[in-house]
Amino acid sequence: MNISIIGTGYVGLSTGIAFCLKGHKVKFYDINKNKIQSIIKGKIPFFEDGIEKLVKNCVKDGSANFTFKLEEALDKAEIIFICVDSPICSEGISDLTNLKEACIELREKSRREIIIVIKTTINPYDYMEIKELLNGNVFHIAVNPEFLREGSALKDSLNPYRIVVGTEDKIARKKLEKLYSSFESAKLFTDPLSAIMIKYASNSFLAVKISFINEIANLCDRIGANIDDVATGIGLDPRIGREFLNAGIGFGGSCLPKDSKNLVSFSKRAGAKTTIVQKAYEVNRGQFNIAINRLIESLKDVKGKNIGIFGLSFKGGTDDLRESVSLKIISHLRRQGALVKAHDYASCEKAKEVLKGVFISDDVYKVAKGCDALIIATDWLEYREIDWKRIKKMMNGRLVIDGRNILNADKMKKTGFIYKGIGRI
Ligand code: UDX
Repeated sequence: MNISIIGTGYVGLSTGIAFCLKGHKVKFYDINKNKIQSIIKGKIPFFEDGIEKLVKNCVKDGSANFTFKLEEALDKAEIIFICVDSPICSEGISDLTNLKEACIELREKSRREIIIVIKTTINPYDYMEIKELLNGNVFHIAVNPEFLREGSALKDSLNPYRIVVGTEDKIARKKLEKLYSSFESAKLFTDPLSAIMIKYASNSFLAVKISFINEIANLCDRIGANIDDVATGIGLDPRIGREFLNAGIGFGGSCLPKDSKNLVSFSKRAGAKTTIVQKAYEVNRGQFNIAINRLIESLKDVKGKNIGIFGLSFKGGTDDLRESVSLKIISHLRRQGALVKAHDYASCEKAKEVLKGVFISDDVYKVAKGCDALIIATDWLEYREIDWKRIKKMMNGRLVIDGRNILNADKMKKTGFIYKGIGRI
């Protein structure tokens, strides 16, 4: 099939490359000319393991083409996937400017019957608006939410846990059944609003699960229980499952915070209560304080102290800073007069643009030098492999606060650190 992808972020690019690898011809379009030119030169503007090589191969074999001219992208397209971002705006709801602009351009430039698949996350009210916007042309509309995790977006695109399509249009349904027939995963075809609710309910449930284990961890801290064993123990129940029970300083990213907040806001508009998700969001908003409190417990005051932050991306495996808890911790510490230095394996360049006055380096030893304390703020597993004996020699103090519980507590204490995890004795 000839497929067009509008939007070349981690969702659009990963989704389109998966279609290329399944034998389809994919044209990628982005309104940002520089982004397209950079991708054509083989430079992907975000970190996603393995994607650079795959894009190069697909361009070479002719299955992937990139353009910043929408007419070119529409030419011969049988299905158009809209994968533009819907960034969080005030009140935690989505800014649909990019999506609306894409739909208006499609309405103006597409002169024939075509299937439009909305992959961008939209709530039920947004969907009504977008459907209205696309009304009039012969568009066959479907909603096809993405469940990609950053850092494994390619894997999740090629072998998704599930494919959910919401449409009331027989032509769209038939075409998408054909397109997805070569994917092994579970498939659910439903109506658009139910597909949208599956997306929001999934992410909100993950948010609830994380805030639940974080509250249990905070309780474990008080009573002296070990959250690692508690999480493992409850996860042994297949009805609960061990994943997303990793306690820490809270969840970030472009989805969980926004989607949980968005669910609460549109459910209020619908006159329904979603108190559990609201509370999970509130718990998360304050969870980073646990790291600050650990710091104050040991250092009494952070004013003038050198604090090293290990990890800037919102999670390991990505260079995405959106809603990163690390950034919340850094701005709080700087407001308290601390001198902050920060490390990351992938997002240093992006962070330098937003963290003026912070020493940022991809060398952990340079960041650790002279620090009174360190906070592990992102779950880069590489932190387990660094030379902690060398880190200790370079630091001024011995306090390490493991905000992601990724280090071995016993080993750290044996190396001479004052080690503090979250819910770990
Ligand atoms: C999420 C959903 O997992 C994915 O299905 C959806 O399509 C997009 O949003 P993503 O935001 O990429 O994916 O990251 P995810 O792996 O869900 O982690 C989100 C945040 O939760 C990160 O900050 C991570 O550190 C945190 N997290 C995750 C925890 O604190 N504990 C956990 O057990 C798991």
